Amino acid sequence: MKRFVLAAIAAVALGGAAYADTIKVGVIGPFSGPFALQGKNFKAGIDAYMAVNGKKVGNDEVEVIYRDLPAADPAQSKSLAQELVVKEKVQYLAGFYFTPDAMAVTPILKQANVPMVIFNAATSAIVTKSPLVVRTSFTTWQTSTPIAKVAYDAGVKKVISVVSDYGPGVDAENAFKAGFKKQGGEVVQAIRMPLSTNDFSPIMQRIKDSGAQGVFAFLPSGPTTLGFVKAYNENGLKSAGIKLFAPGDLTQESDLPALGDAALGMQTTFHYAISHDSPENKAFVAAADKAIGNPAELTFPAVGAFDGMHVIYKMIEATGGKQDAQKAVDAVKGLSWVSPRGPVTIDPESRHITQNIYLREVAKGDDGKYYNKEIQTFEKQGDPGLAAAK
Ligand code: PHB
Repeated sequence: MKRFVLAAIAAVALGGAAYADTIKVGVIGPFSGPFALQGKNFKAGIDAYMAVNGKKVGNDEVEVIYRDLPAADPAQSKSLAQELVVKEKVQYLAGFYFTPDAMAVTPILKQANVPMVIFNAATSAIVTKSPLVVRTSFTTWQTSTPIAKVAYDAGVKKVISVVSDYGPGVDAENAFKAGFKKQGGEVVQAIRMPLSTNDFSPIMQRIKDSGAQGVFAFLPSGPTTLGFVKAYNENGLKSAGIKLFAPGDLTQESDLPALGDAALGMQTTFHYAISHDSPENKAFVAAADKAIGNPAELTFPAVGAFDGMHVIYKMIEATGGKQDAQKAVDAVKGLSWVSPRGPVTIDPESRHITQNIYLREVAKGDDGKYYNKEIQTFEKQGDPGLAAAK
């Protein structure tokens, strides 16, 4: 007791500083299984942030605790989150690659007094499920709205939509349909395929049979996006002149070597390209390359995690390390900074990130490496899906 009092006096004497605490951040993501590369990118983004900014906020030490959730599994996501809160006493929950995993945890945030910072899950409605959710990734409404204009401007008037049948796929389909209709185009057919689909030949046949001039597609980045784009090439759709339009999930950088020349010229819209030309991004890529070990594996979830850590550090700073979820979330409403992706703001109402969306084209550099080359910027895009989500 005596020692405790002396320590307290010493702490106050040192400029009123509070005791040094360990603030735990629980991160749930796919760290094994088919989507392990996406989880590895969460970790690379976190490690890069902590390498650049240190592991301390004020006097408090930040500790990240990881829990592996290999596939979309809402029940398991909820029990991992509960275990992190109850046993590990985490003050923050973060990560969440798949929408259903984030959705399943929103009901426990209030009672647990814990904010959730989403590094990836991209269905618009998630932020409406709890006032304690903040998102630093993107929504498929945000990324799929501009590609509708790109498709129409490319002279394509009839499109078939193909999406994974769950939250972000349904949002992507609705966003594309709304955007394309506004331009004057027509979505002639809309296919929703089970998330587990990995044989795309029958879908490719349906696309050919539809008579559409183009296909809009969304699948969550991972082995199946690679499979889908390969099937598009190998089933002769590309050579038949049926154009593929998609958000950037379909051309994540780590998939480009496997796609090879077949993906050259493919246009996508997205919030982040590793090639983004800015000093902030150069610094990020250098730190993230080091963190991931193999630069060829670096892809977009790393930037969601890097910016997510920025938000968490600001929350810890604003609460002086004390557990006050509402105060932490309120502190980042309206927060603006220059992310590796460009200028961003946490929208004070939706708590979702406002950001530029870029049109990019798969290109081959002088070094022979494939990359997403940014060719147009849609500035300061909020989330058009929020009205639909309410
Ligand atoms: C999601 O489940 O929300 C999700 C996953 C991967 C993506 C996009 C969205 O690439």
